Amino acid sequence: MNTATAMPPKLPDDIPGAVRAMKTELRQHMGDVQVVFDEVAAFITSEVEDIEQRQASGESVWPIIDYRDIAAGTVPATQMEEVRRRGCAVVRGHFPREAALDWDRSLVEYVERNDFDNQYRGPGDNFFGTLTASRPEIYPIYWSRPQMEARQSEQMATVQSFLNHFWHYRSEGKVWFDPDSNCLYPDRIRRRPPGTTSGGLGPHTDSGALERWLLPAYQRVFRRLFSGHFDAYDPWDAAYRTEVYEYEGGTTMCSAFRTFQGWTALSDMANNQGVLFTVPIPAAMAYILLRPLLDDVAEHDLCGVSPRLVLPISEQWHSLLLRGKTLIPDVQAGDSIWWHCDMIHGVEKVTDQQGWGNVMYIPVSPLCEKNAEYAESCAHHFELGESPDDFPSEHYEKDWQGRFMPAQLNERGRQSLCAG
Ligand SMILES: [Fe+2]
Repeated sequence: MNTATAMPPKLPDDIPGAVRAMKTELRQHMGDVQVVFDEVAAFITSEVEDIEQRQASGESVWPIIDYRDIAAGTVPATQMEEVRRRGCAVVRGHFPREAALDWDRSLVEYVERNDFDNQYRGPGDNFFGTLTASRPEIYPIYWSRPQMEARQSEQMATVQSFLNHFWHYRSEGKVWFDPDSNCLYPDRIRRRPPGTTSGGLGPHTDSGALERWLLPAYQRVFRRLFSGHFDAYDPWDAAYRTEVYEYEGGTTMCSAFRTFQGWTALSDMANNQGVLFTVPIPAAMAYILLRPLLDDVAEHDLCGVSPRLVLPISEQWHSLLLRGKTLIPDVQAGDSIWWHCDMIHGVEKVTDQQGWGNVMYIPVSPLCEKNAEYAESCAHHFELGESPDDFPSEHYEKDWQGRFMPAQLNERGRQSLCAG
């Protein structure tokens, strides 16, 4: 790859001007935007109605897959189809419950032993900006033994590979990533104690906001949609996704292409205790992208999108989508949760939370040049116990005792660092 394309692009100086120019150009390509939008809205409406019916009948909308079936390659075809349709899944028993609870205890020991409470200097970023949210209890900890053990485990690799295979990684005459190899993408942990009252986190999507309209690479990702062919648009087509480099600056930037975002539960969590929700319709992104092109949105506006913040989903512009909001089912420690990288998600509010709400964020970052490049930079930070480049430079763990060390890497862990 030409290294010039691997640099994060700069935000346009005149964003309103760039948005206006983009809208003019897209309308020329698309013809009658309202006709295409109506087609998208009709599809979304049928999916929303199906979700509402399922919810009313008490069935889980989130596909629930048993880890043993993934490991044995015996996931029923109906469940595979459900994951493809909903773009999300719960993996039951991904890790034994006792092992996950053990990890949870180890994490507490790790932060207490290193006096994190007194070292903590407050949030290092303003990731969620203006979303109606109180801040979740995120710890900027990356290199604990539990996190690294989970990341380099066979169970994690098995599920990551299973999920990668939902994507068409070969298209347009190119192989976009290797579904059976994964790169390290170190992320943080969340620990939310019993008794928490939290406003949750408003619905949004990750992996670029303005970028999804303005960057040439994203315009290629959405080429079918932006040429007016919703019928040919496939949210699972990986083409050009690995060529997207988000705007530099800000801490919402993700340097990797994640096929799925995900976390592993380190405590049991009941579905009514302020848990994650998604709008389980991968093609909802088509609605999000086309909505600002309609006449009732100001020419310079993208339905509330701002630079360096996540893409907000609002009642004002996206009420149809929000009807599909679906909480995860009850989970146990050791289960994992996964959602497609375009998917709307957020965290439900809670009053006086019962039980803990503890997770390790571990996404799927399949092997491709972009992800390998980032993993290689993480390898350096891993050795020094520093925060990875996509996160605020807090570096709490540099001198911590009990940090996971390079000698503890297994073969899979070494490969995931993509070093050398
Ligand atoms: Fe998010």
